Amino acid sequence: MKTVQTKSIQVKGLQKTYKQLHVLKGVDFEVEKGSIFALLGSNGAGKTTTVKILTTLLKPDSGTAIVGGFDVASKPDHVRQSISLTGQFAAVDEILTGWENLVMLAKLRHLKNPRQVADDMLKRFGLTDAADRKASTYSGGMRRRLDIALSLVGNPQIVFLDEPTTGLDPEARIEVWKIVKELASGGTTVFLTTQYLEEAEQLADRIAILHEGRIIANGTLSELKKLFPSAKVEYVEKQPTLEEIFLAIIGKKEAM
Ligand SMILES: Nc1ncnc2c1ncn2[C@@H]1O[C@H](COP(=O)(O)OP(=O)(O)OP(=O)(O)O)[C@@H](O)[C@H]1O
Ligand SMILES: [Mg+2]
Repeated sequence: MKTVQTKSIQVKGLQKTYKQLHVLKGVDFEVEKGSIFALLGSNGAGKTTTVKILTTLLKPDSGTAIVGGFDVASKPDHVRQSISLTGQFAAVDEILTGWENLVMLAKLRHLKNPRQVADDMLKRFGLTDAADRKASTYSGGMRRRLDIALSLVGNPQIVFLDEPTTGLDPEARIEVWKIVKELASGGTTVFLTTQYLEEAEQLADRIAILHEGRIIANGTLSELKKLFPSAKVEYVEKQPTLEEIFLAIIGKKEAM
């Protein structure tokens, strides 16, 4: 029987150790096609490590990861064709203008009309006025938008965003959120990592919390809210925020 593949990412038993540091101790999760999945964790939890494995930049010690229908270990080239990565630190070429950055990438991806692609992307990301300025003169928010635009050249099916809004002001953060929502409504799968609970709350269809090497909670926001001890919900007489849930689950003291 033929089954329709509805998962963009399937991860099972992923482990990774750097020297003595056992960062991933058996990570499992799945991401539905066309959904937004947020991997949430504190500094050093292993979010970037997970992203690097899923984007073929790093080999796991054990476990499997299927991305876009292909195994990252045995078919890395196939995986790379269906994904893009916007890393935690911008990959923009500072010496080039925004337009030149985009044209260069469109050429690297062998697209038909690189100049047109660059013009369209600049327009879509509200950067047309800054098209001919060197990226080094861009604000943090503009640079992030250009960085995301660069990763979308060629319309990848699965987009990885590693902390896409870290360091951005609230206005720039909301712009990035808008871009992410548009991507998912167009059918693209978005995998993002974040330390901002509000970001996961705003964007994600599913949220997974990575803590001490494992996924300790995984669900929709309302499912995660149910994990919060009910007595506490009554006591505070309001819906718990994701921050309260996060801190309760990882066993720290209450935020407030
Ligand atoms: N190449 C490496 N060699 C040794 N240790 C590493 C290496 N890369 C990462 N680590 C360590 O592994 C742990 C997980 O790092 P990782 O970058 O995956 O965390 P993260 O969740 O992305 O953190 P952040 O929120 O700070 O970006 C950290 O303790 C980090 O210092
Ligand atoms: Mg990181």
